[in-house]
Amino acid sequence: MINLSEVHNILDYLDEIVFLLENVTVIYANKKAKEYFGDCEGYNIFDLLVFEKGSLLVEAMHTEKSVSSVNDDAIITFEDRIFSNRRGGWLYFKISYIKKNSLLILRDISEERNLQEVKLNISSLIAHELKNPIGVLLSHISELLEDEDDEENIKQFLKIEKQALRLNRIVEQIEYITMAQLGLYTPKNVSINIRKMVDSVLDDIAGLIELRRAKVEKHINIDYLDADDFILRTILKNLLSNAVKYSFDNSKVILKITSEYISVRDFGVGIPDEEIPKIFNRFYRTSTGVKMASGSGLGLAVVKHLANIANYKIEVKSQHMIGTEFIVYFRKE
Ligand SMILES: Nc1ncnc2c1ncn2[C@@H]1O[C@H](COP(=O)(O)OP(=O)(O)OP(=O)(O)O)[C@@H](O)[C@H]1O
Ligand SMILES: [Mg+2]
Repeated sequence: MINLSEVHNILDYLDEIVFLLENVTVIYANKKAKEYFGDCEGYNIFDLLVFEKGSLLVEAMHTEKSVSSVNDDAIITFEDRIFSNRRGGWLYFKISYIKKNSLLILRDISEERNLQEVKLNISSLIAHELKNPIGVLLSHISELLEDEDDEENIKQFLKIEKQALRLNRIVEQIEYITMAQLGLYTPKNVSINIRKMVDSVLDDIAGLIELRRAKVEKHINIDYLDADDFILRTILKNLLSNAVKYSFDNSKVILKITSEYISVRDFGVGIPDEEIPKIFNRFYRTSTGVKMASGSGLGLAVVKHLANIANYKIEVKSQHMIGTEFIVYFRKE
């Protein structure tokens, strides 16, 4: 049997703060507790710890017996901020109260929380600090265009508008990649009416299809597909727009969708073998691709990240000057 002082010794090694209570009085506090809150023993726990939402601990301590009788070892866990004089401010804690033993355990999660906040700040920085000014710019340009009669000026404004739109697309794509890389995008699978989605994607890129006078053949042998709406739509849009963009005029693009995969096949410029591994890199564009159409080189980077999140596998088959096929398998082997 180990004695009480040995138990106390062990508790002093813990990273967690441990309080043993008698009603609301602290009768034991480990070393970590003293590091955060100074002398603890003999104090009322509510005098010692200044909670942001103090009522959560009160509730935990006074929860009806019925909760613990269901499970004798019931642990009530919640998160709250607590003020620590010694650590100079408010800190986030995960707080567990073990009713049976009147044991209160606190784990400092401030660092995890701060990291999470930094991540959210980065993505809101992109979303607001970059997207808003571009939006303002675009609305001013469209006002200028409306009031302008001079053909030369209109030409110049249209050039500015085109670049602003391009910037907007880049920021949007970077936002998705950042979200995906920071693990902030969690896919949510729903049953998707796949024909409807394909039609709306084709509608989005109608201008491009018209420009190339491309014929998109659809071979879809299912009605519904379980997938994340945003992920599937983005993958389809990027692959189809590439297939059309990098095709010659009047070409065919074949879209095939089954319950196992999506295949987008074109008869365009193709991708030289040695460049295939690079096309998923951010900003990479093949030399033939650059000549065919404008782009930012981000579409496939986004596709790759989203496929990773959804656990899809991508295969590329291409022959230079003959054509390309992208296949997205819904399940990675
Ligand atoms: N179907 C295709 N046929 C031939 N080349 C392709 C095809 N798809 C992609 N590529 C090549 O890979 C490059 C990267 O594609 P990606 O979609 O990432 O960028 P992009 O189309 O240039 O720009 P955007 O960000 O607007 O999509 C393209 O620039 C092109 O050179
Ligand atoms: Mg693209």
